[in-house]
Amino acid sequence: MTGNNLAIIILAAGQGTRMRSRLPKVLHPIGGRPLVGHVLTTAGRLEADHVEVVVRHERDQVVAALAEDYPDAVFIDQDEVPGTGRAVQVAVDALPADFDGDVLVLSGDCPLADADTLRSFLDAHREADAEATLMTAVVDDPTGYGRVIRDAGGGVDRVVEQKDATAEEASVSEINAGMYVFRVATLRKYLPSVGVDNAQGEMYLTDVPGLLRRDGSRVAASVVSDVTVTYGVNDRAQLAEVGRLLNRRIVRRWQLEGVTVIDPATTWIDDDATLAPDVTILPNTHILRATTIAEGAIIGPDTTLVDCEVGEDAIVRRTDATLAVIGAEATVGPFSFLRPGTVLGARGKIGAYVETKNAEIGEGSKVPHLSYVGDATIGRGVNLGASTITANYDDVNKHRTIVEDEVHTGSHTTLVAPVRLGAGAKTGAGAVVRKDVPAGSLAMSVAPQRNIEGWVEKNRAGTGAADAAARSRVAE
Ligand code: UD1
Ligand code: CA
Repeated sequence: MTGNNLAIIILAAGQGTRMRSRLPKVLHPIGGRPLVGHVLTTAGRLEADHVEVVVRHERDQVVAALAEDYPDAVFIDQDEVPGTGRAVQVAVDALPADFDGDVLVLSGDCPLADADTLRSFLDAHREADAEATLMTAVVDDPTGYGRVIRDAGGGVDRVVEQKDATAEEASVSEINAGMYVFRVATLRKYLPSVGVDNAQGEMYLTDVPGLLRRDGSRVAASVVSDVTVTYGVNDRAQLAEVGRLLNRRIVRRWQLEGVTVIDPATTWIDDDATLAPDVTILPNTHILRATTIAEGAIIGPDTTLVDCEVGEDAIVRRTDATLAVIGAEATVGPFSFLRPGTVLGARGKIGAYVETKNAEIGEGSKVPHLSYVGDATIGRGVNLGASTITANYDDVNKHRTIVEDEVHTGSHTTLVAPVRLGAGAKTGAGAVVRKDVPAGSLAMSVAPQRNIEGWVEKNRAGTGAADAAARSRVAE
């Protein structure tokens, strides 16, 4: 039904003045994607013959942000004539001359219209057999939207923009959602008659329905019941609201797929993330970009995962991780910082106040407390004692540390890279390891301890320490 003879035109050329931003409005992200990216993703599900994005304001930036993710989209440049009518006109002119189907017009700033809604909208247009069909909604507060003015018979008569509306027209609560289906021949015929004689001096696409009606043609309206699908973003307050609605939809989708989300209001899941059944998400957790989480994992509270892969039954709490792989049944956190290239093996552990980067940590190996592990390959069954640090950077180059299977390091070991600890080796507490340690050896670099008896009473007389030492000597 939606396959043949469909062109989709996405309007993304406007400046978005009300955002007061150096970033073009349509590139502001929600759910891990620019606003217009959501529209393009949805358009991609409708199997259109042509998808065109009309650009002008910061066009290079907009094209650069989208070209890679949406290789099938064609970018059309709007000229200096302003307005949504002109935007659609340049896009229609760029369609092949023999294209003879329907044109679905969408706005780059309305990201909540999903594929099902748009499919029903196209069906409604085809059933109505109209020249044009508008998506409309009846809302509590129509401020800012174009109003749909109906005739005595209840049919659509025209659309009036807020800035051009009389008080009576402005009181109408049925709004134009800014999404339309037109026969392409209709647009070719009527757009040249659209002028700029209005409050904004722009070519309004919304003049087309009125022009059609004057010629006695049929304009249909498809009233959506869920008004949120029509919500557009014009300012940052709406950006937050639309972002929240999108997130609520994504969270709900995963809940119905079997994910436990304790607190949907503080759980943020990007559209590209994938969660398996029986995952549990605790409050204040951000699952971002293409993160995937396997069955039974428990994530949060207070955790941010960006492009991470979490294995089955892993536990990740109070953690910030980017481009990290966390193995099955591994535990991470609290207060762990996993930077790109961290790969933690199955049943491994990265514990409190540990930072890792570009580090492979083998199966069952543990980095439990207060460590930095960077540019390292750690074997299986290793235990890095509290506060073990890889000194990987000599101010010029980064060097690798290799720790083979079953190594145990003493607390506060400093591994000065490049260095290798052979299988089963150990280090003493406080060791500074500058040379390779052969398999099975104990490395110690700290001088043997010397106790100088009576030093405190002699050299620190009158201090609390000297007094305590004296009392302890008497008590003996
Ligand atoms: C538009 C509609 C209004 C409707 C509302 C729904 C018109 C004249 N008005 O108003 O009836 O209720 O959407 O959200 O169409 N754009 C271009 N080129 C331009 C101007 C805009 O491509 O010259 C793009 C913008 O980037 C944006 C979209 O068109 O993605 C809508 O433009 P915007 O200025 O936000 O129109 P609204 O005032 O919201
Ligand atoms: Ca808008």
